[in-house]
Amino acid sequence: MLHIVDHPCVRAKLSILRDRTTPCVRFRECVREVTSFIAAEALRGVELESFPVKTPLAETTGYRIANAIVFVPILRAGLGMLEAAQSLVPDSAAGFVGLERDHVTRLPREYYCKLPEATPNSFALLLDPMLATGNSLAAAADLLKQAGFRRIAAVTIISAPEGKAVFEARHPGIDVFTGCLDERLDENKYIVPGLGDAGDRIFGTEHV
Ligand code: URA
Repeated sequence: MLHIVDHPCVRAKLSILRDRTTPCVRFRECVREVTSFIAAEALRGVELESFPVKTPLAETTGYRIANAIVFVPILRAGLGMLEAAQSLVPDSAAGFVGLERDHVTRLPREYYCKLPEATPNSFALLLDPMLATGNSLAAAADLLKQAGFRRIAAVTIISAPEGKAVFEARHPGIDVFTGCLDERLDENKYIVPGLGDAGDRIFGTEHV
């Protein structure tokens, strides 16, 4: 299921991301800011465990996240979201999935996969700013499932209806949290209106 995190701050920051004149440094900053809102929603369902805390005035109940959280950016654009996600859960682990499009099949092909060990209480969150065709996110979710992760969610910044349909068909049990559901894909599989190439804009390679 796709969950849209329709917060006024997310809408405002998405507009900065969409603006073609936003410079690379501000773009990267905004990716981090918007990721914090969306990833926080994706983490709403985590389990907590309680422990005693002494304030200067009294003893009370404190809470900490009981799940072993694993953030998994899809290379390369997902890397721009990792730091913001990690600051929500500093004692999380990170895994990495690299996928590139095969020139013949036009489907994503894995070129890198490094994941921490899955445990019964692991909760893995895939990070990828653009849910476009849905093929990369679905392939990354396949890799997590093959590695033994049972609880998985995905965090994206902008999603396309085509990608939503593909991902929901392949992984009906995985929730996707996103900032906006845009109109469509164009003939080059870019999201319209979208924000252009997220990786290029995060890493300053637009004109390279
Ligand atoms: N990847 C991007 O970076 N942008 C899109 O619009 C689609 C996929």
